[in-house]
Amino acid sequence: MSRKIRIGIVGCGAIGTSLAKAIRRDFKEWGKLTALYDLKKQKAQELADKFKDKSRVVDSLEDLTKKSDLVIEAASAGSSFVIAREAISKGCDVLILSVGGIIGKFKQLSGWAKNYNCKIYIPSGAISGIDALKAVSLVKIKKVILTTRKNPQSFSRVAYIKKRNIDLKRIKRDTVLFSGTARKAVKFFPQNINVAALLSLAGIGQDKTFVKIIASPKTKKNIHEILIESDAGKITTRTENVLHPDNPKTSFLAVLSVRAMLRQILHPVKIGT
Ligand SMILES: NC(=O)c1ccc[n+]([C@@H]2O[C@H](COP(=O)([O-])OP(=O)(O)OC[C@H]3O[C@@H](n4cnc5c(N)ncnc54)[C@H](O)[C@@H]3O)[C@@H](O)[C@H]2O)c1
Repeated sequence: MSRKIRIGIVGCGAIGTSLAKAIRRDFKEWGKLTALYDLKKQKAQELADKFKDKSRVVDSLEDLTKKSDLVIEAASAGSSFVIAREAISKGCDVLILSVGGIIGKFKQLSGWAKNYNCKIYIPSGAISGIDALKAVSLVKIKKVILTTRKNPQSFSRVAYIKKRNIDLKRIKRDTVLFSGTARKAVKFFPQNINVAALLSLAGIGQDKTFVKIIASPKTKKNIHEILIESDAGKITTRTENVLHPDNPKTSFLAVLSVRAMLRQILHPVKIGT
């Protein structure tokens, strides 16, 4: 029997916690949670307490990589590149959640992954259609457009909104907050738009992928519509995400997609593209 994959989690917030539980509950046959690291050590300790095992808490990213075969980044867009670089340079595979933080340097990361013989995993997050986009990227793609609708309050901490003095409370009907390239969308909405970064990576890049962000006061869901036009035909998807029961900042599907990806990595049978 092959040995279990050792998994370390960087970032013990809402997503990290949910994944740690899933690893111990659903994947114990193939993987084991060996290390937890958070800039706020208390967070890692609180999570370890839930499992009654403090030995998993480590003091640095370097210590975490020593105890891991697979590093899960669940920290922030500001740190995901450095975390991925550190993990790869220590020979670990890495699963990245804060996709917006690596998009501009993805070629570099891929080059390192090749040199160190490591893998980079990026889950589909809160959208459907990545399976088809990956497939049609083997032929000519003419167009990829993402339209995102969220409740105006989802954007309350976005600097782009504050800078333009947009009063989110006054929005009474669907209002376009942004329209432009994925490169700009990721820059201006780094916490809200991991999906734009992901689409760019899977398809035709940041400058050819177009994004429209709409504040929609009547919805409590995060709704993502995708249009793809390619030599293999036209694809449209619409995903109406309910928010995660423990973490209203994120879509439930985004967390499930990471769990599904973990299953894809760990389980001997792989289904889907
Ligand atoms: N790809 C997707 O579909 C998807 C879905 C949800 C969340 N995310 C991303 O995942 C990340 C985590 O989300 P969350 O809701 O758990 O956030 P959170 O704020 O609840 O937790 C993040 C944790 O990471 C820690 N942290 C931050 N920088 C760190 C660093 N450099 N080293 C170690 N720890 C660090 C923080 O102290 C915090 O405890 C965010 O960047 C978010 O945008 C991606």
